[in-house]
Amino acid sequence: MTDKTANTMWGGRFAAGPDAIMEAINASIGFDQRMAAQDIAGSRAHAAMLGAVGIITPKDADTIREGLLTVLSEIEAGTFEFSAALEDIHMNVEARLKDMIGEPAGRLHTGRSRNDQVATDFKLWVRDQLDAAEAGLLALIDALLAQAEAGADWVMPGFTHLQTAQPVTWGHHMMAYVEMLGRDLSRVRDARARMNESPLGAAALAGTSFPIDREMTAQALGFDRPAANSLDAVSDRDFALEFLGVASICAMHLSRFAEELVIWSSAQFRFVTLSDRFSTGSSIMPQKKNPDAAELIRAKVGRIMGANVGLMMVMKGLPLAYSKDMQEDKEQVFDAADNWMLALAAMEGMVRDMTANRDSLAAAAGAGFSTATDLADWLVRVLGMPFRDAHHVTGSLVAMAEGKGCDLPDLSLADMQSVHGDITQDVFDVLGVQNSVNSRMSYGGTAPAQVRAQVGRWREVLK
Ligand code: ARG
Repeated sequence: MTDKTANTMWGGRFAAGPDAIMEAINASIGFDQRMAAQDIAGSRAHAAMLGAVGIITPKDADTIREGLLTVLSEIEAGTFEFSAALEDIHMNVEARLKDMIGEPAGRLHTGRSRNDQVATDFKLWVRDQLDAAEAGLLALIDALLAQAEAGADWVMPGFTHLQTAQPVTWGHHMMAYVEMLGRDLSRVRDARARMNESPLGAAALAGTSFPIDREMTAQALGFDRPAANSLDAVSDRDFALEFLGVASICAMHLSRFAEELVIWSSAQFRFVTLSDRFSTGSSIMPQKKNPDAAELIRAKVGRIMGANVGLMMVMKGLPLAYSKDMQEDKEQVFDAADNWMLALAAMEGMVRDMTANRDSLAAAAGAGFSTATDLADWLVRVLGMPFRDAHHVTGSLVAMAEGKGCDLPDLSLADMQSVHGDITQDVFDVLGVQNSVNSRMSYGGTAPAQVRAQVGRWREVLK
């Protein structure tokens, strides 16, 4: 695709075209063509404004705007021929426009530069991805709420250090992720609101002497206002970094949940059965059903966080304003966005389809002396013991049960009384897991009533 003649967009002072290697390192059209729709939206807004304020004639503005729509339809139809000699999406679109409409195309670039143009395109692209992430998060949260509601009172073990700690409810565990993803959702919305200022009209770096109307283009592109400093507008990419930061945190949440699904679907746990639609088999072991989707989601945080670090390294140390380094901002963001959306969708599918195995959950909930804290609390509440003493007595009873190879509820009253004479038959009420979870009625606790209240609150919030 090398064109040995000087570039028609900026070649006035050039006698020769670029070396092939120069073209290869310089061209971004291979990836920035993904911003074609945003580029054309930005150019159409700019042309309308140029016409409205009289910098170009309204007729030229209309011709340009119509022509740009045709260019867009060619790109969407896949008939557009991208040229590396034309470097990037901006010049590819403008060159094609010139082929089609001739002289007025050359007036489009009045009062702007590729620097504000690319900042605008990229911001619009990232903004679209934030909207997609919002939709993906809402769908996933909805799937989790359905699981939480169905299993508000199903008991399962709660873990610390991945050791059985206290019984919790399935619904409570699902709702923990709703809280995390709910904060991700609010980070998405915050980032969107903060980035929503238009770079267009900042021109190369200093603004322009043409009487442009930046309010008008900002409004046409759905921005809240024009960015207030032209140097900043063309040279910062913090909106993309914030996008990657939000994506990284969310991907980390998805990764933790994915890890739990991998563990839970194993033969050793059998807490959940993943659907065939979100599992794969093994080419050698016929019995296998692997949680590949969960594993891949678990891994996605690596490349998304990698993009975050990568772009941070590109941006650090760049003097104001634009430097070509900033062309390296896009590929990593594109890749991170694609994989974030995929991870959200795959997680939603898995959560909607998965079946909790209530029997395995309940059996595991009672194992591992999971109601020992309930026993200690009973000693405090009923016998008035200081908690530290109750902890000690309970520890002795756990050791006794362990010695006998049974669980706490299997000890006899006589066994109990051999450790502390005041213990009565009532203690057995608190050793059952269902009673244990029912009793945890503190705000935010695992009691089914609390879980149902939180499901209701979230449904209200998301309405
Ligand atoms: N393709 C370029 C980029 O992505 C567009 C901006 C070029 N600006 C310039 N001054 N050469 O950054």
